[in-house]
Amino acid sequence: MTHSVIDLIETKRDGGVLSSNAIEWLIGAYTDGSVPDYQMSAMAMAILLNGMNNEELAAWTEAMLHSGEVMDFSDIAAAKIDKHSTGGVGDKISIPLVPLVAACGIYVPMISGRGLGHTGGTLDKLESIPGFTTGLDPDSFRRVLVEHGLVLAGASETMIPADRKLYALRNATGTVPSIPLISSSIMSKKLAEGLDGLLLDVKTGSGATIKDLDRSRALAQTMVGIGASHGVNTVAFLTSMEQPLGDEVGNANEIKESIDVLRGEGPDDVTELTMVFGETMLGLAGIDGGREQLEEAIESGAALQKLIDVTVAHGGDPSVVEDPTLLVRAPHEAVIDAPHDGYVTRCDALTIGVSATRLGAGRERKDDIVDPGVGITLKAKLGDHVAKGDPLAIVRYGDQSKWDAQRDNLSSAWTISDQPMVPPDLIIEKVDVTTI
Ligand code: URA
Repeated sequence: MTHSVIDLIETKRDGGVLSSNAIEWLIGAYTDGSVPDYQMSAMAMAILLNGMNNEELAAWTEAMLHSGEVMDFSDIAAAKIDKHSTGGVGDKISIPLVPLVAACGIYVPMISGRGLGHTGGTLDKLESIPGFTTGLDPDSFRRVLVEHGLVLAGASETMIPADRKLYALRNATGTVPSIPLISSSIMSKKLAEGLDGLLLDVKTGSGATIKDLDRSRALAQTMVGIGASHGVNTVAFLTSMEQPLGDEVGNANEIKESIDVLRGEGPDDVTELTMVFGETMLGLAGIDGGREQLEEAIESGAALQKLIDVTVAHGGDPSVVEDPTLLVRAPHEAVIDAPHDGYVTRCDALTIGVSATRLGAGRERKDDIVDPGVGITLKAKLGDHVAKGDPLAIVRYGDQSKWDAQRDNLSSAWTISDQPMVPPDLIIEKVDVTTI
């Protein structure tokens, strides 16, 4: 049955409800090009303003999920568990986490994204390992997963074409921060991976896509509900993105920090989040007492070996994982100094993420090329005491004019005050089916 797209837009614009049949038709027609971008952007804005009810959301997610190929790993006996973050600054957790849990026996068929806007992307970070290819066809994706228990790739052309088109459209039309559109976008991608369990890291605060805690909680609850209705055991954590995660923001430098975690030498916040998420993922697979197993996988070197093995499987150069000093670094270095003595009471994730992006570590537009050697190393974070002249950050850059344009902006990320402050909790709340 065909529908009038104008009628559907007007229904949503006026606060009405779209039928499941209409949603299925609309997503199909948008995917095959018969509904143009300008009409879908009007629909996306009407959804952003008026929301969707549970039935509409279920139908929208289902239609997106079935717009392309859905993977089936039911022949793999081990539990297939994935993790997804809504995106942040310095958020490299997937890179140490996936090899770590794979070393403990679960399978992770991870489909990741690229950085867009001020947030980084796992694929860009991995591609700072020379030769590491993230574009795998479905057969290679399956082969790497079966052989190694993990795979870290981008969505293939045949998966979720509706989301690929719609996400790009939303980025260009101010319609990203809609809870139904974000949750259906993320969950359709994750449900296409044929999972048994899913951990969601919903970032909240300055550097998050959704900054407000109540809206972040609503997003987490919505996604946990979608997972449950598809039989995928889904747990979400609300975690703070007021300041960047870890000490490194960029790409190659974030790979180095991830390797530090797998060697037991990572910064406390990245290590703790990796361990809590790892334990939860093992729990989703029915493995209790996961913490000791994770610690053992780090101490024995098994987790680092998994990263080395998967690097080789993706065509990457394992020598940079064995010796991260070989990773690329941009040629120039600058230091931001503390202007006076005091306590760091603000280390703003958004400002730091925007600066890193504009220096070349991310993309302002979809076709920008990322410079993997550009990076910011944070030397002072929330609650730290600094003396005048102490370094707040070390910046590596390639293009002098970009650094000249960013110096003041990046310096403005820190506030140094007389009064000490206690940093906010990193893990704010856990959301599962019992709490929605
Ligand atoms: N990440 C996604 O995959 N989709 C969104 O809509 C927002 C963040």
